[in-house]
Amino acid sequence: MQLEIQPKRFNGNSTMRLSLIKVNRLVKITFIVLLFICFNSLAQNKGVLNTDQGKIKIDKHIYGHFSEHLGRCIYGGFYVGESNTKIANKEGVRLDVVDALKKLKIPNLRWPGGCFADTYHWKDGVGAKEKRPTIVNTWWGGVTEDNSFGTHDFLNMCELLGAEPYLSGNVGSGTVQELSDWVQYVNFEGISPMSKWRKENGRDKAWNVKYWGIGNEAWGCGGNMTAEYYANIYRQYATFMTSTEKVKPFRIASGASSSDYHWTEVVMRDIPHNMLEGIALHHYSVIDWSKKGSAADFTEQQYFQTMQRALQMEELITKHSTIMDKYDPQKRVALVVDEWGGWYDVETGTNPGFLYQQNTMRDAILAGATLNIFHNHSDRVRMANLAQTVNVLQAVVLTQEEKMIVTPTYHVMEMYNVHQDATLIPFDFTTDDYALGTEKLPAVSVSASKDSAGVTHVSLVNIDSKNTKEITIDLRGGKFSSVTGRILNSPKLQDHNTFEKPDFVKPVVFKQATLSSNTLKVTLPAHSVVVLELR
Ligand code: AHR
Repeated sequence: MQLEIQPKRFNGNSTMRLSLIKVNRLVKITFIVLLFICFNSLAQNKGVLNTDQGKIKIDKHIYGHFSEHLGRCIYGGFYVGESNTKIANKEGVRLDVVDALKKLKIPNLRWPGGCFADTYHWKDGVGAKEKRPTIVNTWWGGVTEDNSFGTHDFLNMCELLGAEPYLSGNVGSGTVQELSDWVQYVNFEGISPMSKWRKENGRDKAWNVKYWGIGNEAWGCGGNMTAEYYANIYRQYATFMTSTEKVKPFRIASGASSSDYHWTEVVMRDIPHNMLEGIALHHYSVIDWSKKGSAADFTEQQYFQTMQRALQMEELITKHSTIMDKYDPQKRVALVVDEWGGWYDVETGTNPGFLYQQNTMRDAILAGATLNIFHNHSDRVRMANLAQTVNVLQAVVLTQEEKMIVTPTYHVMEMYNVHQDATLIPFDFTTDDYALGTEKLPAVSVSASKDSAGVTHVSLVNIDSKNTKEITIDLRGGKFSSVTGRILNSPKLQDHNTFEKPDFVKPVVFKQATLSSNTLKVTLPAHSVVVLELR
């Protein structure tokens, strides 16, 4: 009996003990979960917006784009030619692409490169198309081009777009005379061999091109020069780029790659500032040049790494600006980030030299956060160019024969264009972290501006891939009665538009912002981009 009872008693105690252990564990887990929830709700996503303050203009030119003779950006992208095509065009330029870009209020367009610019001889691209010599695109796929898209085609296209042209001069394999002639050809109204030639080629009035790049990546594909050598060469080229009554060339020096601070130091030190209006900076968000990863099929780790590279822009601009401040405390010379964006492996089955990649919500987040950085450094960053406009790298437009789609990045550029030429509002903002393993990034990126009609716009990006952020902003220096907005978001970071589903990712009305006694509260979903309008 005993034997029977004892085990029973023993069993009973053991069950009770087990239950107690379970309850204990449950309490602990609940406590940890509560602590976590508590911590998350207490997390600092708070800001103060002094809406009556702000002196610096967000130059619309930071919304510039870049169109290189690369892959299907020009040929097959912007330009389909006039014959043998059913695609609606004006002088060979696709009208659907023009319409889409006009909605972005595209302020300027850089052409013809990139690396291609230092191989390009503009005189081969004017006059009767059938007589133009060919050019082999040595940097991008080794393809032979017929030069049918040249100076007239590009500058007329810019007029169609309502965008200012930004011409990139050939320093690497060109001559001082060649660039000087190009300036005369497009800008000189009087009598000269170049203006005469332009008129013979069908264009009477000058185009008055303001923005000029003197070489591209002179430290690399533009001639593998040292900074010291380039600075000397620059002075020579710049000397012969003459002004006209209507336009003074805004000359942009080939700039540093990412953190090459020595380059900026030398260029700022050795070029007299009356010969220099801007200095470039190129920075691509690449995980690893030998392992870039797929554009649309990526892990959270890869997303995190892309965003690490993208947010490095803050540090790069700060440090390059510090060097520029030393030589130019009045901030006369602009920092021109004329190549930026995400760079991944090409889409399977496409020419590796054509740099064709898809564009997802990851790119939208990258674009929103980068533009916020540019806004917040508007005192120095006065021009920038996303690489590249159509069918190449972080494109805003993709084409396939007669089809055209816009990408998540396009939507961000469109939502954000309310900031163009508006006054930057100082934003004092504290964000919590987006953590992955032991690494951390600031989770929320912000910027704000007031336009000429007095309307305030706030841009918010939640970089965190998983967590919603509760945001509180104290609005000071003005009275606001309404908040409206739009959001770009999609269930997955990998989501993108395709020719079959062109509107899979698109902005919608945002309803999770409320205003009460000048306190703005926003519930910002994970990996989303929001632009709010306050009146
Ligand atoms: O945008 C693609 C290439 O990247 C450009 O031609 C070059 O300037 C840079 O290295």
